[in-house]
Amino acid sequence: MQYGYFDDKAREYVITRPDTPLPWINYLGNEGFFSLISHTGGGYSFYKDAKLRRITRFRYNNVPADEGGRLFYLCDGDTVWSPAFRPAMTPLDSYRCRHGLGYTVFEGKKNGLRASLTVTVPMHCDMEVQKLALTNESSEEKTLTVYGGVEWCLWNAVDDQTNFQRNWNIGEVEIEGSTVYHKTEYRERRDHYAFYSVNAPIAGFDTDRDAFLGQFRGWKEPLAVEQRTSFGSIASGWAPAALLRLAVKLAPGETRTFLFRLGYAENPEDRKFTALNVINKEKAHRMLASFGTEEQFDAAMEELRAYWDSLLSRFTVQSSEEKLDRMVNIWNQYQCMVTFNMSRSASYYESGTGRGMGFRDSCQDLLGFVHLIPERARQRILDIASIQFADGSTYHQYQPLTRRGNADIGSGFNDDPLWLVACTCAYVRETGDFTILDEPTPFNNEAGTEVPLLEHLRRSIGFTVSHTGPHGLPLIGRADWNDCLNLNCFSHEPGESFQTCSNFESGKAESVFIAGMFVKYGKEYADLCERIGLRNEADTVRERAVNMEAAVLAHGWDGEWFRRAYDAFERPVGSNLNEEGKIFIEPQGFCVMAGIGGAEYGRRALVSTEKLLGNGFGIELLWPCYTEYHDYLGEISSYPPGYKENGSVFCHNNPWITLAYCTVKDGNAAFDLYTRNAPAYIEDKSEIHRTEPYCYSQTIAGRSARTYGEAKNSWLTGTAAWSFVAVSQGILGIRPSFDGLTVDPCLPDSIRECRITRLFRGTRYEITVRRGAEKGLFVNGAPVPGCTVPLTDAPVCMVQAVI
Ligand code: BGC
Ligand code: NOJ
Repeated sequence: MQYGYFDDKAREYVITRPDTPLPWINYLGNEGFFSLISHTGGGYSFYKDAKLRRITRFRYNNVPADEGGRLFYLCDGDTVWSPAFRPAMTPLDSYRCRHGLGYTVFEGKKNGLRASLTVTVPMHCDMEVQKLALTNESSEEKTLTVYGGVEWCLWNAVDDQTNFQRNWNIGEVEIEGSTVYHKTEYRERRDHYAFYSVNAPIAGFDTDRDAFLGQFRGWKEPLAVEQRTSFGSIASGWAPAALLRLAVKLAPGETRTFLFRLGYAENPEDRKFTALNVINKEKAHRMLASFGTEEQFDAAMEELRAYWDSLLSRFTVQSSEEKLDRMVNIWNQYQCMVTFNMSRSASYYESGTGRGMGFRDSCQDLLGFVHLIPERARQRILDIASIQFADGSTYHQYQPLTRRGNADIGSGFNDDPLWLVACTCAYVRETGDFTILDEPTPFNNEAGTEVPLLEHLRRSIGFTVSHTGPHGLPLIGRADWNDCLNLNCFSHEPGESFQTCSNFESGKAESVFIAGMFVKYGKEYADLCERIGLRNEADTVRERAVNMEAAVLAHGWDGEWFRRAYDAFERPVGSNLNEEGKIFIEPQGFCVMAGIGGAEYGRRALVSTEKLLGNGFGIELLWPCYTEYHDYLGEISSYPPGYKENGSVFCHNNPWITLAYCTVKDGNAAFDLYTRNAPAYIEDKSEIHRTEPYCYSQTIAGRSARTYGEAKNSWLTGTAAWSFVAVSQGILGIRPSFDGLTVDPCLPDSIRECRITRLFRGTRYEITVRRGAEKGLFVNGAPVPGCTVPLTDAPVCMVQAVI
């Protein structure tokens, strides 16, 4: 069943009823100011860091869910309603929510009044702008009372929800004209304030939430709204808010438009005040003036549209598969941008208070983003590398505001260093920018420790080869990609974090997965070395990869598939010898992609993968699921069967299998798997799948779960990047390489031909893929050997691949 539809022309998902199974959200903003917005107007905003600079308040796990956010009330006679349905929740005569790229539009109608609310964060501006257009479609004049509002968060989102003995005393605001300024803690050490304003004279305001709401009431039915008034409350402690009231008359047929603006501004220390504790509001004035008219708003929307036009034109496909085109051309790339911006910090599942930017997460996010804005990818690589330690190991995450490593959620994940190699190689292949390798980059952010970025990669490789175990396989450390396979943890303390505890250091547990990574990325590193004249180093690393491959074949092959690991007692994990957890997805993906054992082993591993792990939504992480807790396996066995790492379809690593299928040239299997969980392909199962049908989720409950098919944790998952890599580089076969653009499609029989455009190092490649007897690659009509189009300076290059 569906709750809406895709409008590909407008690049929107149109939700046609408010009762979706879960809040279906969108992301606004690209650089500093970000907003999350649900299909009923819920969500929150922050500046750069969802924990430390939270601008508006959000209550996770609230009942009812997703309350608050954008607080619009339209009072028309006896009826009070909201353009986004909530908060008033009055049934509407018609409702639509259109989530587009960087904006969301709500269209509501009730009793002859039409409201259209467009919400966006304009480019290069730290504001959310909400354009409310009201049209009187009745034949009578309407006298309306209109409210627009937000509830402030006291900046630090954790303190805001915990430290009430202090919080309820510190809230402060200022009011000037139609603007409410939020200045809690500005009197002391903060150099920033927020504001909410409307571009029309207000009839009244409230800034004390509870005065506005009245005793025992929620956002659905505030006392002020019931009485069509404002109390003029000035917040002093408690919960500051900005609730603006307008008196609006509308003649029949008339439309009036208002711009509500939620902004964030910073002041230098010596220019904070204009009088004792009075904010210097210059910046806000300027920002408000830049979005004071509809024309300015429309121009910003146009700029946003042009921005996405240009970004998305870098990779497009036209095929006979509408859903494939929709995912590739719009939604998958959009989600890649969101994961690049957010890492795993702020979604409706990630509270934005726990995790900053993950090391391995951000490195992988880059793989799906690097073709969009290579310059931003470059900076990100340097930021990430700067939190590495001199021995090649690294913090697991950093805070975006400070760019400093943070050990709060653990370190010692031994796969981390190799992801830096993966994303740097991807960046150089995309851009040809070898200069990044020379960038002086510190260890642990300490000034004076800078070495060229290349040295960081070298240490990553060095760390892996110098940390091997009894079978010559890499030591797993706290965990590898699978955060929950904690082979050195042995936790018995209720509530102890599996991600940080360290009760037993075996120095023995090994990972076949990291071995697969090493073979794949070690070879990529060697190729990179060769390109910059480091032949000896290239040879040494290749030799190490060969040795690693031998170790995998000797100790990591189980007979019909690749094993997963060896535990602290040197026993295999992910082997037919185990009772549960006989086979895991991760090593099948990475060892096959790395070419370990060649196509023969690859095919066998993939047959086992599909047979034992396959379900209607993809490939499950492991089988059989663990039914009881094992201290020698850790968090993975803490989840009930079929959920999360214990045997759900963990969407992130399904594309590894798609790519593995492409490695062994099985286009039908690759595409079949791709379509089993690509959102557009399962839109009609929305009542089962439940999360947004326009973005990937982290997990889909497996067969062993009670809720098989139900997805959780939408948006912030490495699934976005890897799915884009799988479809663009594997299935469509367009791969940037050091020497040119590789065109090597691995299409299913059902796709007979397709057209692809790809902007690569300044050249627009117009690629046609078709079936034919005379197979090969033709560049501007002439055949070229192999499957790589050599680099060219031409602005356009016509390519034909006959397959
Ligand atoms: C989750 C993992 C996640 C980890 C991050 C675990 O509880 O199951 O998916 O990567 O937490 O800290
Ligand atoms: C989510 C984490 O963000 C990611 O880093 C990890 O690889 C997966 N979970 C699997 O545990």
